[in-house]
Amino acid sequence: MVANSVSPAHLTATGVARAGGTGTMGSHTVSRIGYGAMQLERLHADRDTALALLRHLVELGVDHVDTAQFYGNGFVNELLQDALRPEDGVVVVSKVGADPNPGGPIPLRPAQRPEQLRASVEDNLTSLGLDQIPVVNLRRLDTGPGLRAEGDQVVDLDDQLAAMTALREEGKIGAIGLSSVTLEVLRRALPAGIICVQNSYSLVSRDDEEMLRFCVGEQIAWMPFFPLGGAFPTMPKVADEPAVTAAARSLGCTPAQVGLAWLLQHAPNVLLIPGTASADHLDANVAAGTVTLDEATVAALDAVRSHSGDVRLGEDSVDPA
Ligand SMILES: NC(=O)c1ccc[n+]([C@@H]2O[C@H](COP(=O)([O-])OP(=O)(O)OC[C@H]3O[C@@H](n4cnc5c(N)ncnc54)[C@H](OP(=O)(O)O)[C@@H]3O)[C@@H](O)[C@H]2O)c1
Repeated sequence: MVANSVSPAHLTATGVARAGGTGTMGSHTVSRIGYGAMQLERLHADRDTALALLRHLVELGVDHVDTAQFYGNGFVNELLQDALRPEDGVVVVSKVGADPNPGGPIPLRPAQRPEQLRASVEDNLTSLGLDQIPVVNLRRLDTGPGLRAEGDQVVDLDDQLAAMTALREEGKIGAIGLSSVTLEVLRRALPAGIICVQNSYSLVSRDDEEMLRFCVGEQIAWMPFFPLGGAFPTMPKVADEPAVTAAARSLGCTPAQVGLAWLLQHAPNVLLIPGTASADHLDANVAAGTVTLDEATVAALDAVRSHSGDVRLGEDSVDPA
């Protein structure tokens, strides 16, 4: 389809057709295929490549990016500040609930207390170079994989939401999302105005199906992390499933693209944030938006066993947030 036959709602601020079509995140109209920036930590020694990748995603019609202060202790946020311009119209989604822990056994530590959430928002504003972060996920520690809260890091949800809504009233954040939560916590949080949920979810990890359906009903965006099964070698990978590789062979695409296409077709409120440090994989992930799965293929993929219970990050791995 040529650009001038696409309705404006399907174009990014820079006039490119939105990757994967058009989706909704609260009051934001965005591409259904976004980008998870965590993998950019790996490009610490190659800043120019990281910046080029971020410019490329704008050219590809991707207009939402997931980040955190603790991705490379501000490194990834600073890349976003340098690479993205206001006129690109990219919605930046960050998260609070953990702080960088440089030099520690793992590079982040829980920071769940209300004053820590506020301080983390301030850190994000500085490293992103923004006056307001469009969306901030409260990254709880209710569900895995990853860290669990202990001691004074076990904080009541209402106290956290009071801090988040105050930050929204002050204009420091535009909207509130949740991450790593249970359905019960999501239900309790609804009055605060939750626009998105970010839990671990993919074709091979589908424990949260009921929560996903609840989000469809509430018009809350479902933005799964680890959509491909993550980068940790010990975690089950979408691309390793025989039904996925068979579908890829018959469709002439890659297994990763099948996994992303399945997510897009699975529910209308899905917005993707696959992570990559490779421009070729970024191209492939955006092209997954053009892959259509027929009914028989969807049925074969739906029958894949969910491995959520097997998820293990590995002894030498870090928290996935
Ligand atoms: N809220 C939270 O607690 C939380 C937790 C974890 C992650 N996140 C967010 O979610 C995003 C996605 O999660 P993730 O990056 O950990 O995992 P993911 O997207 O499931 O997988 C990333 C892994 O897949 C590879 N990959 C990506 N595209 C590929 C393709 N087309 N073909 C083959 N391999 C491909 C990447 O390697 P290459 O770099 O070589 O492409 C990387 O090893 C993160 O980037 C982060 O922004 C949020």
